[in-house]
Amino acid sequence: MTSPPRVPLADRLARMTSSSTLRVLQMTEKLRAEGIDVISLGAGEPDFPTPENIREAAITAIEAGFTKYTSAGGIADLRRAIIERMRRDFGGEYGMEEVIATVGGKQAIFEAIAAIVNPGDEVLIPAPFWVTFPEVVHFCGGTPVLIDTEPTQFQLTADAVRERITPKTKLLVVNSPNNPTGRVVPAEEMRRIVEVAAEHNIWVLIDDCYLYFVYPPVAPFSAIGLPSELRDRCLVTGSFSKTYAMTGWRIGYALGPSEWIKAMLMIQSHSTSNPTSISQYAAIEAFAGRQDSVREMLDEYRRRRDWLIPALNDIPGITCVMPEGAFYALPNVRGVLADDLPTSRALADALLEHAGVAVTSGSAFGAEGYIRLSYATALDDLQRAVERIRDFLDRR
Ligand SMILES: Cc1ncc(COP(=O)(O)O)c(C=O)c1O
Repeated sequence: MTSPPRVPLADRLARMTSSSTLRVLQMTEKLRAEGIDVISLGAGEPDFPTPENIREAAITAIEAGFTKYTSAGGIADLRRAIIERMRRDFGGEYGMEEVIATVGGKQAIFEAIAAIVNPGDEVLIPAPFWVTFPEVVHFCGGTPVLIDTEPTQFQLTADAVRERITPKTKLLVVNSPNNPTGRVVPAEEMRRIVEVAAEHNIWVLIDDCYLYFVYPPVAPFSAIGLPSELRDRCLVTGSFSKTYAMTGWRIGYALGPSEWIKAMLMIQSHSTSNPTSISQYAAIEAFAGRQDSVREMLDEYRRRRDWLIPALNDIPGITCVMPEGAFYALPNVRGVLADDLPTSRALADALLEHAGVAVTSGSAFGAEGYIRLSYATALDDLQRAVERIRDFLDRR
């Protein structure tokens, strides 16, 4: 018997690595299939149902027959709803040619990078980072250049950006509130960061995925509200996934200079075409309808955060800063690493195997010495998980 021919995968795939959050998920599923009770703090997925008014809008869309192709960049009513919400919440004025609806925020990010990054271009990415950013840059033949934010307690500063700029720098990626750190770039600093980018003729991709999940006294802020001469440097991507617990609906958006949006539309029209028509109607309701569910979810995340962070800091060897937004904690675990558990990946694997708690190793996010815990998880599960982590570390 001859073996089947090897598929000659494209070179650009050799530069990519598979998602480690996915790896945790697969290992969790394997253990659960063996009957082991695993508490998962690995996934960045709200544990709430999609709000009822949004579900109903989707059902109405199906009944009304809105189940066909739409224009590739999304129906006009959705694009208007996105513009209107951004205007109402952040005061930014955008035209219809400056907005696109996408298949999740992820597609917007992929297209935004693919539209302007050439092989050899450098892309500044603050570390810790969301895993997808460097992978998409690799896919496009660019070079990710990391900005280490650990010395400033994960706060990205304009000075740190300036230091890493070279003649090859094309793009800066900013994610605030940040996954995995939970830090929020203050409005004034964001303005300085974009000013530095503009001075050096660099473009800025701002990922607003967790925009509405910031904890008082921090207020939601988007680059959408920057003066137009700065905003013209920025492409802002957003998502309905987290804000409205709509991860499976796959709907997101981008707002930015019309040339950039047009290029993204070109990619989209030749890849996925339009985002799912039904999800588009649901998203109109999400942005145009009542917002009480967002406030309720935020209140619950805050309650969990306020319990979780002190509980983590109470474990000897672990320190954790208070996240200002999103729903992740990124404790520093260097104090519990040892010869038999030398890395955060080894610790994450041991917690999964011996304590039944799934967390993600910080190394996946460019944050060796840290682990990431998602508190988009019921409070009693969080409490049980912390108990198990504490017991596991006590036993060693
Ligand atoms: C920082 C960040 N940006 C973007 C996304 C994309 O989300 P989606 O494609 O579901 O809109 C995620 C999802 O986890 C994320 O964490």
